[in-house]
Amino acid sequence: MWLRCGRTSNYFTSFSCRVFRSRLDVLGRRGCKTAAFMPEAAGFEGVSSRSELQELSVSRSSSSFWAAVARHRLSWISPFTTVQDCDLSRGRIKWFEGGKLNVSVNCLDRHVHTCPDRVALIWERDEPGSEVRVTYRQLLEMTCRVGNLLRRHGVKRGDCVTIYMPTCPLAVASMLACARIGAAHNVVFAGFSAEALSERIRDAQSSVVITVNQGVRGGKVTELKRTVDEAVQSCPAVRRVFVAMRTEAAVVMTARDVAMEEEMSTEDTVCEPAAMDSEDILFLLYTSGSTGKPKGLVHTQAGYLLYAALTHRYVFDYHDGDVFGCVADIGWITGHSYSVYGPLVNGGTTVLFESTPIYPDPGRYWEMVQRLKINQFYGAPTAIRLLLKYGDQWVTKYDRSSLKTLGSVGEPINTEAWEWYYSVVGDRRCPVVDTWWQTETGGICIAPRPSDPDAEIVPGMAMRPFFGIKPVLMDTEGKVVTSNNTSGALCIAQPWPGMARSIHNNHQRFTETYCQPYPGYFYTGDGAYRSKEGYYQITGRLDDVINVSGHRIGTAEIEDVVNQCSAVAESAVIGFSHDIKGQGVYAFVVLKKSADAQESDLSRQLKDAVSKKIAKYACPDHIQIVKRLPKTRSGKIMRRVLRKVVERELDGLGDLSTLDDPAVVQEIIDGHAELLRKQQSQ
Ligand code: WTA
Repeated sequence: MWLRCGRTSNYFTSFSCRVFRSRLDVLGRRGCKTAAFMPEAAGFEGVSSRSELQELSVSRSSSSFWAAVARHRLSWISPFTTVQDCDLSRGRIKWFEGGKLNVSVNCLDRHVHTCPDRVALIWERDEPGSEVRVTYRQLLEMTCRVGNLLRRHGVKRGDCVTIYMPTCPLAVASMLACARIGAAHNVVFAGFSAEALSERIRDAQSSVVITVNQGVRGGKVTELKRTVDEAVQSCPAVRRVFVAMRTEAAVVMTARDVAMEEEMSTEDTVCEPAAMDSEDILFLLYTSGSTGKPKGLVHTQAGYLLYAALTHRYVFDYHDGDVFGCVADIGWITGHSYSVYGPLVNGGTTVLFESTPIYPDPGRYWEMVQRLKINQFYGAPTAIRLLLKYGDQWVTKYDRSSLKTLGSVGEPINTEAWEWYYSVVGDRRCPVVDTWWQTETGGICIAPRPSDPDAEIVPGMAMRPFFGIKPVLMDTEGKVVTSNNTSGALCIAQPWPGMARSIHNNHQRFTETYCQPYPGYFYTGDGAYRSKEGYYQITGRLDDVINVSGHRIGTAEIEDVVNQCSAVAESAVIGFSHDIKGQGVYAFVVLKKSADAQESDLSRQLKDAVSKKIAKYACPDHIQIVKRLPKTRSGKIMRRVLRKVVERELDGLGDLSTLDDPAVVQEIIDGHAELLRKQQSQ
């Protein structure tokens, strides 16, 4: 077992414990209470309540807050010399510079020293009742073997490895192995198509891909290795594809492919961790924006890890020994921060969920809660809405007394779903935390907890900013709205350690998207309402990004694919309210004059194209063929009009005087009604 860093970590931990204990001794009772909540608070003068802790974290002295937390919660190989060096207006964000650390040592080695046999991962395999437990010692060994294997095949510090795998321990070990040897990882959700994967491999400049022979989800097998084969045909830089075996099925292997488990078995279980700078890249994660191609958001080492640790601990009230059940896929940021990094850096036990909420039946989540004794359950509103329709009996027949906190993420949770989650799933015992955040923010920014233990929680509201987060609302003129009971564009007024640093290969796009719309502020792209009491409620995207079952997709990306079809002249894609998915995809399509495609054929063709070029979840639910689109005289599509038609808000179409030809609106209304009629009669 590799020890050097471990000793460093022990030194730092015991050092900080001594400092904090001696400070604790001189505190009064209230201070003690706050220090019991957050040990670092003992070192902050004048802080004797949780709200004062929050104030400190966003005050001019915020650096002292973050410095103490970073020293206390992370193991450093060498200490940082500056806390922050940020200029939001120019998109410069740097935290804990001068410091060196290794993320995998923080997530593994230091826990192996104190509790090697504690379970790190519980892999809830697709096949119910066949979970696999992996201890910290085993996960460290697995990670070291993968690290050595990658090194032997030439992966170096600064390279980027693409991971295209289902949620499983080897995927986690692969992420941590990258971190161990100083490579960045780029996890691509295994539901993405070959084309989407290949675009991400090329953009990330990966020469190595890790995958599995086949994926298994909801009882269905997917040919992941075959998808990788297809993807890398257009990625000449890829020299190695590591293939792990999720099923027994043999797959065709080429000279480029490496049988992963076979080669791992001969690797050493000790792998020297690289000493990384705080601001070296930890990972890229691609997500959709309102225009152009998906962007590879860049997260770095120390700040991201610290923020994941702190939010995991305090939003969910996670304590040692708890079993944390985040059911997100590791291909999304939620899987990164709350299935992997947050729980592991805190020495927790985390569930890796490979299945779906309704496989083999709609009781899957709650049967799993009973079997694994899950204490915190973190899921998506879309799944809650789906399960609600199946009825309470799928929930109540299982013992859920282990549950302490219920979390929700990815999209607004409507009151009905919130109430059901709270009363049926949680028996009105467990706080429901509606957590707002984004791939860009790295971790949760607004959530009802932490707060005073009995503080109210309002259904369907994210409510309170986390430590270090200062939300502001902007009006249409770009001015900060100071009053309550108002809405505006949600921005964050100062940098925090978990935020993304850049867009890979395109820092200009980063500053243009997030820093320039409201100079000096981070612009989220979401709208929010601030209540009379000062609580935040997220109202949805302000840009052309839609959120299908909690998965982001840019309307422009879908339009790109639709427009490539030979019969299509142009298109406009919008999101619309969907009972289960939150939002669905609605495409308006104008055909070329020469096209004589049958409507049903065309619809199938377009759906196939979207699923082949992007992913199934992005497929349009409805395709309406129109003669023309509503455009302004300058040629801009008026999406607002399309949205109102689809949402049946015909009274609120607004000012149509800038339309080139207002008659187009009636055509679209009629066509929409006709489409609905046809669908109902089918
Ligand atoms: C939306 C997911 C309302 C929002 C972690 C955001 C939410 C986008 C919530 C980010 C919430 C996420 N309430 N909306 N609690 N959480 N969103 O990058 O529009 O996949 O901008 O990150 O999801 O999606 P992403």
